[in-house]
Amino acid sequence: MSRVNKIPTKKEIKLNNNDFIVSKTDVKGKITYCNEIFMKIAAYNEKELLTSNHNIIRHPDMPKVAFKLAWDLISKGDEFFGFVKNMTKNGDFYWVFTNITADYIDGRIVGYTSVRRKANPSAIGTIEPIYAKLIEIENQGGIK
Ligand SMILES: Cc1cc2nc3c(=O)[nH]c(=O)nc-3n(C[C@H](O)[C@H](O)[C@H](O)COP(=O)(O)O)c2cc1C
Repeated sequence: MSRVNKIPTKKEIKLNNNDFIVSKTDVKGKITYCNEIFMKIAAYNEKELLTSNHNIIRHPDMPKVAFKLAWDLISKGDEFFGFVKNMTKNGDFYWVFTNITADYIDGRIVGYTSVRRKANPSAIGTIEPIYAKLIEIENQGGIK
């Protein structure tokens, strides 16, 4: 399924303290596994997620450079930690603190695994204006 073209709403979906959103992808970022909490929060069913790239939940308030940094790190086997604003199927948003790592078989990267939990609200207050500034810069001069 291609990315759903939708208008972002101002409604925030809040994770519970004990929620962990887990997903796995192939080497290109196509989703190969998602847990129940992921489906519940993002409001997609399993079939929709398992036929999509992970950018299906990309929110337009996220700067491109955040994902460039993530891919630069994970594709060489390093871990990525970061705050990500995601978009649900309805256009609502939810903030997570994310970890992404590579999965190996015989020393070769065969995919990636991501685990996320509720983002600390005070961290969101700090990161939001930084992401907004990065998007402004990207809109002026590109991602470099
Ligand atoms: C394991 C894994 C998890 C990811 N999780 C997210 C995510 O939660 N939200 C998101 O927007 N992108 C996520 N990405 C990155 C997307 O694949 C994609 O690079 C990003 O959404 C930017 O989309 P674009 O390259 O089409 O602009 C993840 C990638 C991997 C490998």
